Amino acid sequence: MTDLRVDLAGVALKNPIVVPSGTFGFGREYGQFFDLSELGAICVKGLTPLPREGNPAPRIAETPMGILNSVGLQNPGVDAFIAHELPELRKHDVKIIANISGNTPEEYGGMCEKLSAAGVDMIEVNISCPNVKAGGLAYGTRPEMAAEVTEIAKKSSTVPVMVKLSPNVTDITEIAKAVEGAGADAISLINTIRGMRIDVNTRRPILKMNTGGLSGPAVLPVAVRMVWEVANAVKVPILGMGGVSKGADAAEFMLAGAAAVAVGTASFADAYAPVRVRDELAAYAEKQGLARISELTGAVKPW
Ligand code: FUM
Repeated sequence: MTDLRVDLAGVALKNPIVVPSGTFGFGREYGQFFDLSELGAICVKGLTPLPREGNPAPRIAETPMGILNSVGLQNPGVDAFIAHELPELRKHDVKIIANISGNTPEEYGGMCEKLSAAGVDMIEVNISCPNVKAGGLAYGTRPEMAAEVTEIAKKSSTVPVMVKLSPNVTDITEIAKAVEGAGADAISLINTIRGMRIDVNTRRPILKMNTGGLSGPAVLPVAVRMVWEVANAVKVPILGMGGVSKGADAAEFMLAGAAAVAVGTASFADAYAPVRVRDELAAYAEKQGLARISELTGAVKPW
């Protein structure tokens, strides 16, 4: 049997499968389908200092092999998460990663202090949400601003800090190197790719916000390429994601350099996708004769 345990910046995961922010809520709904303790980690819906209702509907559009969303960080706010959701999540034997978005570096710092004190296992600093006007992508597309937010998050946290990168940049390695230089313990990528759909009858964009972020199988090759580029540019561990729906997809991300892999949009079509992907990945690893799943990380043989 292959040992499925992996280490993500000092956070010990029982297997490499993580559910990414924005695809799993706070676990309550999916907990009706399988035991959340089966997962390596749960990354919760993006939190902000105050509650947010998100963007007006329609905020989801189907695309070939994916979905476009402009949810706009709907969430109950960091204090309500700590009071009501974290205690429920803590009933399961699974690592909890809190994803945070702020309008200013100071807002990120304040949330890091609260979440560290509340006992999450890791903080994911989201500088890549394409669906909000302030913060979000504005920080994720400029190396110096990405570094500033990372530095404040690190200073304000007592748990490892992972920074989530945007694919909507010319060279993702510039941002990766900037956040590593500012102290990030890990990097996650990719967030969604900006896109747009138009109803040809009404001539209106399908999303009320006009544009949104694309996820699902369509983005997988872009995400694998970016994980590979970032893995060759930094030393910190990577959580890879983007269109994973099968064990072989997860193996691709690990071969490209990811220490762990997130299964997101696939859960909308198949609630069991994260545990199925874990089992398929384990079967592949056993067939490959691996003693440890971590042997896959970075083991691609480029031409
Ligand atoms: O709109 C959203 O809530 C998406 C967030 C993200 O992509 O980080």
